[in-house]
Amino acid sequence: MAKLQEEIDKRRTFAVIAHPDGGKTTLTEKLLLFGGAIQVAGAVKSNKIKKSTTSDFMDIEKQRGISVATSVMGFEYKDYKVNILDTPGHKDFAEDTYRTLTAVDSVIVVIDVAKGVEEQTEKLVEVCRMRDTPVIVFINKMDREGKDGFDLLDEIEEKLKLRVCPLSWPIGMGQRFKGVYNIYEKKLNLFAPNTKYGNILEFDNIDNPELEKHIGETYAETLREEADLLDQVYPKFDHTAYGAGKLSPVFFGSAINNFGVKELLDCFVEIAPAPIQFKTEERVVEPTEGKFSGFVFKIHANMDPRHRDRIAFMRVCSGVFQRNTNYLHVRKNKKMKFSNPTTFMASKKELVEDAYPGDIVGLYDSGNFKIGDTLTEGEVLNFTGIPSFSPEMFKYIENADPMKSKQLAKGIRQLMDEGVAQLFTKASNNRKIIGTVGQLQFEVLQYRLEHEYTAKCRYEPVMLYKACWITSDDEEKLKEFHRKKANFMAKDKEGRDVYLAESRWMLETAQGDYPEIEFHFTSEF
Ligand code: G4P
Repeated sequence: MAKLQEEIDKRRTFAVIAHPDGGKTTLTEKLLLFGGAIQVAGAVKSNKIKKSTTSDFMDIEKQRGISVATSVMGFEYKDYKVNILDTPGHKDFAEDTYRTLTAVDSVIVVIDVAKGVEEQTEKLVEVCRMRDTPVIVFINKMDREGKDGFDLLDEIEEKLKLRVCPLSWPIGMGQRFKGVYNIYEKKLNLFAPNTKYGNILEFDNIDNPELEKHIGETYAETLREEADLLDQVYPKFDHTAYGAGKLSPVFFGSAINNFGVKELLDCFVEIAPAPIQFKTEERVVEPTEGKFSGFVFKIHANMDPRHRDRIAFMRVCSGVFQRNTNYLHVRKNKKMKFSNPTTFMASKKELVEDAYPGDIVGLYDSGNFKIGDTLTEGEVLNFTGIPSFSPEMFKYIENADPMKSKQLAKGIRQLMDEGVAQLFTKASNNRKIIGTVGQLQFEVLQYRLEHEYTAKCRYEPVMLYKACWITSDDEEKLKEFHRKKANFMAKDKEGRDVYLAESRWMLETAQGDYPEIEFHFTSEF
């Protein structure tokens, strides 16, 4: 047991999130360099999906294939075992990212100093807030001209609804970037490109006239004034508030110059939460429980046509997962054991003998798993908090090859289990509607149906604004709603009732007309 506790305390499992181009890949890579997980810069780049809007989805799928190896990057730093869960950069795969966020204990959000808070970041942080995930903010690209630090903090508080607490503060920016004052460690870090991580000096009092020697009079004056203001306006760092997702430390730096990254990592391993408890429908599961439990948060198909298998990514939540041991697949009520589970140490995949809470294990799967599935030593547990989000784009899906309707049905079912898109079946006429958050998801689905299931599909337009799950304690009202909206009701793949709103106006009117009915925008309520 002592060993289990020790292993748990060492682990930091997190994701880096950003709007595309914010610097997520660059920062991840620098973190890996510090952890000795890679030797040269550029190693992670191959995983990056370029942001072209042309729908060259095959390329994207290939790259997704490559990214399996770097989906989880584990490394050791100081006495910690750090697991970074990678998230797809392309916004059309935001659903993958949402799900990955359910398997982490904390996140680092990267924000471009010039662009400030962008759309994708807002959405991702919203998902973090749903679970009170602790967030650290890294303001990147300080070597470029950008927004004023205070304005950025305001923007973060306003748009991301995070209470912030700066733990470092920039001195100048762009061409005039001098470095940062590390408030957390009371150090002055002078910007010096082409050094390992700048020039770090112990500096516990910025009123010390030595400061002028390093950054000049004007910057010294400004730093003192700004530090005063920070003191007055922002709360002091509070570990409990951060751990509860109520306070977000902010760091400034430049990932590409490896500047500010070491401070970030040093502080991160110290303050970020070790593996946390997870909720199940039945009870709360503590990581320290002796018996193993875990859930699947992502399924990755192998795009190599010679190897049809998939990899299910499982997060260990409690106890110790062991190779070649029988576990209960709760949904299927079936015993399963795994002879070649893998962990991910940077770009290498390695066979795993034991995995501890916070670790991610890759399980080869021939179609047994779907997202959210639970494995245990025998107890019936169903992890919660892996919701589907109300999709934003919709199309009817039709069979384009009548000889292959079985294959199509199977393909759709399996790919939905994998989380490629969401399926709704209209109550009035049984037509099937695919819902996604991005156009590319439609193309990936069509391509994979054809190549993996030899089925052909065709899409037809449908004008819909949102799909939301509805519930009510008032049976009569619910019946009335079903009657009135008969043409707009559907079932999701679990058979739950979904209202398909044609427009924002229709949705708002429905909400106004039926206060007894609850409209849910995620599948978990
Ligand atoms: P992403 O994964 O969030 O999409 O961002 P990524 O790290 O790929 O960074 C996006 C671009 O921003 C890259 O340039 C990268 O080099 C640059 N970048 C990252 N950090 C910094 C920084 O601290 N300062 C400056 N000035 N630039 C930074 P690119 O031209 O799109 O790609 P590349 O050709 O350099 O690979």
